[in-house]
Amino acid sequence: MKQIINHFNRRIRIAKKKRKRKDKEKLRLTKEHFKFLQPDPPNFYEALKCALSHPLVFFRSGIRGAYHVSVPPVTDPAYAQLLDQPLYSYLWNYYQQKNRLHSVKWMGIPTLKVIFDLWVYQEILFQQKPDIVIEIGSHYGGSTLFLAQMLDLIGHGQVISIEIHNQNFLGQHARVIEIEGDCSSPKVLDKVRELIRGKSVMVIHDGDHREFAALRDLELYGPMVSKGHYFIMEDGIYDLYNPKRGRINPEQQGPLKAIREFLKKYPGLFTIDTNSERFILTSNPYGYLLKTGEL
Ligand SMILES: C[S@@+](CC[C@H](N)C(=O)[O-])C[C@H]1O[C@@H](n2cnc3c(N)ncnc32)[C@H](O)[C@@H]1O
Repeated sequence: MKQIINHFNRRIRIAKKKRKRKDKEKLRLTKEHFKFLQPDPPNFYEALKCALSHPLVFFRSGIRGAYHVSVPPVTDPAYAQLLDQPLYSYLWNYYQQKNRLHSVKWMGIPTLKVIFDLWVYQEILFQQKPDIVIEIGSHYGGSTLFLAQMLDLIGHGQVISIEIHNQNFLGQHARVIEIEGDCSSPKVLDKVRELIRGKSVMVIHDGDHREFAALRDLELYGPMVSKGHYFIMEDGIYDLYNPKRGRINPEQQGPLKAIREFLKKYPGLFTIDTNSERFILTSNPYGYLLKTGEL
């Protein structure tokens, strides 16, 4: 904001010199003129009017952008309202409305994902071709089958699916090794360690999202991830929304806090890959962790 104001003020100073205007004060730009750029100005049209009222701004190129803001971007009545919503509302509704998150299916199997993340998974799998993908929390297995079929297309790799209650699991596939049990139990950990020996490994954590559990699983499974591969911690989105406005899933809040704590405890071990969040609509803020160090 400060930079924009300075930019315009500089241009005004040049213009003023050229035109030898006397009424300097009248031309000074203040924060008031830029209020319309704030995320939720209390009175958007008043703010915009104030910006447009500036004698120089109105005719300068910068105002073209401002003018566009005043014109509805979509006028088609069937879509105008649907598309006129902030991203945070869209994501919120994606989780809260049964016909969004709970309608996502992969090959007919429920898959609890924001679908942009699945595309990013496909990119990561193709680029890195891990020998093993450990999925913690499979539920119906839509995500497990998605991973297995991606590995089929790539022609390499296996999925270890760990699910505490896998009576609903429908993701059976030749590349899937099912383990039923608590991912933090010594029995499950021993089995996983045996299966991954000598293999390149990535981990997708979509199990218990409470802070203590997410942190515990980062500690237990982080060391299993091979250098140059990912630990994907899902559902940090649960932590993002302001508690005063309500949470998406208050009982499962914690992944983002756990990530921050873990990274603070082991600096340099993982690096947050924000490029994997470039589509913005993701369940996993700061959740794509690339292993860049060793313990
Ligand atoms: C959000 S669902 C997984 C959704 C699935 N990955 C998908 O995208 O469709 C979370 C699952 O994690 C399982 N879970 C919770 N705690 C677990 C633990 N400690 N070990 C293994 N699985 C766990 C739950 O039973 C539940 O089925």
